[in-house]
Amino acid sequence: MSAAICGTGSYAPDYIMDNNRIAELVETNDDWIKERTGIRKRHIAKTETTTFMASEAAKRALENAGAEPEEIELIIVATLSSELIVPCSACEVQREIGAKNAACFDINAACSGFVIAYNMADAFFAAGQYSTALIVAAESLSKLTDWTDRNTCILFGDGAGAAVLKNTSDRHYNSVTHSDGGKGWALTCKNRLDLEEGRFSREHYIDMNGQEIFKFAVRRVPELIREVLQKNKVEQEEIAWYVMHQANCRILEAVARHLGEPAMKFPMNLQHYGNTSSASIPLLLDEMNRKGMLKKGEKILMAGFGAGLTWSGNIVEWSI
Ligand code: COA
Repeated sequence: MSAAICGTGSYAPDYIMDNNRIAELVETNDDWIKERTGIRKRHIAKTETTTFMASEAAKRALENAGAEPEEIELIIVATLSSELIVPCSACEVQREIGAKNAACFDINAACSGFVIAYNMADAFFAAGQYSTALIVAAESLSKLTDWTDRNTCILFGDGAGAAVLKNTSDRHYNSVTHSDGGKGWALTCKNRLDLEEGRFSREHYIDMNGQEIFKFAVRRVPELIREVLQKNKVEQEEIAWYVMHQANCRILEAVARHLGEPAMKFPMNLQHYGNTSSASIPLLLDEMNRKGMLKKGEKILMAGFGAGLTWSGNIVEWSI
């Protein structure tokens, strides 16, 4: 048995910022951003908090699953941008949705967060500890973005996504996760806790070596996908969809090329949301689910990659 996705939900903030608005802040333009990243606009949380977005996505996932909050035994929230250090965002979601029987904690695995949250819930299921879980990923990256840095401010957006999991899938798939702390310098954001008055600097915003991250993703993600397939004795042809972290269209197109797969098996919605870190995969999954693109029994390979560096993948059989 393994974790089946029984319902999905998502939330995107009301305020939308297009590339032309960014061009008013830094020296850039719509064509450059579209060509280099595929991004046209992003949602920015002006009034919403990370935990509010997480709770809204969670409520929508419960509704989609037809599940009651009391059924949930475990809540994992993946985030790197909660406004709260304590209590954890998962406890906030628990309170908001009334999931009073759930054990709750957060993880920070950056853009791999949602996939790793799924892997953890699945491992708890395999150990016999829980059989119903809610996994949520929510980010307010706009709060960590230096809006004077054109290397980064063109990329990121805010939002949340969630999935209800039940231990009902017939076949168990093994996940793969890798990390390379040695390359952590390529994408950093310093905590503001050690901030002395007046010492606020760029280190307290997301700082990124774009080319290093690009090379990492294009090399490691195809390797990851092949490893997930091999470990589970699944052929590439059996995969209906590669639901990937929505970082950049050029990264996803390069991964598809490396694997010799058609680009249409790599759905994208980054045009509308930008890179929402851990939230990008469940935002896309929810969109595909609600559009009726996913058929029962289809195998979906999910893969996240990003800061840490971390990269993680798994296979889910669609069961709705
Ligand atoms: N608008 C216009 N010009 C820009 C620009 C911007 N926002 N940012 C950089 N440029 C300029 C540079 O100054 C440079 O000009 P020059 O050739 O005159 O020196 C030129 O464009 C190329 O810069 P470069 O940094 O080489 O661009 P790139 O092709 O590497 O694209 C990224 C930059 C950030 C889009 C790309 O590196 C990338 O997508 N990396 C991965 C980032 C990512 O996905 N991070 C999250 C992972 S989870």
